[in-house]
Amino acid sequence: MAGRVSGKKVFITGAAQGLGAAMAKAMAAEGAKVALADKNFAGAEKTSAEINAANPGSAFAFELDVTNEEQWVVALEAANKAMGGISGLVNNAGISAREGGIEELSLETFRRVMSVNVDSVFLGAKHAIKYLAKNQPGAIVNISSIAGLIANHNSPAYNASKAAVWLLSKNIGLYCAKKGLDVRSNSIHPTFIDTPILDPIRNMFGKEEAEAKLGRQIPLGRIGQPSDVANAALYLISDESRFLTGAEIKVDGGISAM
Ligand SMILES: NC(=O)c1ccc[n+]([C@@H]2O[C@H](COP(=O)([O-])OP(=O)(O)OC[C@H]3O[C@@H](n4cnc5c(N)ncnc54)[C@H](O)[C@@H]3O)[C@@H](O)[C@H]2O)c1
Repeated sequence: MAGRVSGKKVFITGAAQGLGAAMAKAMAAEGAKVALADKNFAGAEKTSAEINAANPGSAFAFELDVTNEEQWVVALEAANKAMGGISGLVNNAGISAREGGIEELSLETFRRVMSVNVDSVFLGAKHAIKYLAKNQPGAIVNISSIAGLIANHNSPAYNASKAAVWLLSKNIGLYCAKKGLDVRSNSIHPTFIDTPILDPIRNMFGKEEAEAKLGRQIPLGRIGQPSDVANAALYLISDESRFLTGAEIKVDGGISAM
């Protein structure tokens, strides 16, 4: 039986662990070839090996710092060769930092968060569109956050960066449509999801207490699982979402409905 993304060739950043790894696994299980790009190359290789054990020949690992333009050019070309094209890009790599209020935040930390979270989406789309154009229909999925739509008092850089991803994603979708390309661009906005990105909070309160605390902020009463985001990404990469571009999917347990 054909998978939901059979024949797709998807480049995923930050795929060594967490959401990127979950999306790579889900897409390979549904018939895609996946390029796992991460600055943690050993981690990307390890996750690729796990995917290839289940779906032989479907995963390839590449070293990429998403803030580095030259590395983007090299990694995309290598992935294009390895997979025989690129028809999907998932801009997932991102960081959060201990920020504090805007008066405490250093310019250096602000710039680092903006660079990893926003430059990455700009550079990824800028250099991947030519490959997606050759492999239409193409799709770009940008992992923003519910924090890109709803602000809080102590994450100015994370809030600003994820809001930038939201609008940049729409800009890319409109640009491709204007060019007459069947290349769509959409964003996903997760709330707290069970990945290592939550470790600083777990370290502060202990795992159970931290997850319960976060869960209480969510109408559904629990934090999300990586598969919750992977399922949304699977839909946006697949042709099932062929009429969606410039859209956002909130995977947030109802937080933004309040
Ligand atoms: N987990 C959550 O609660 C949550 C919620 C909303 C949004 N997000 C977003 O989802 C994305 C993935 O988060 P996660 O929870 O899987 O995080 P994670 O920390 O578990 O994984 C992030 C991955 O990105 C890689 N990475 C970091 N900086 C990089 C760089 N400069 N170049 C290349 N790779 C880099 C890391 O090596 C790691 O493999 C991020 O953009 C994050 O902001 C996560």
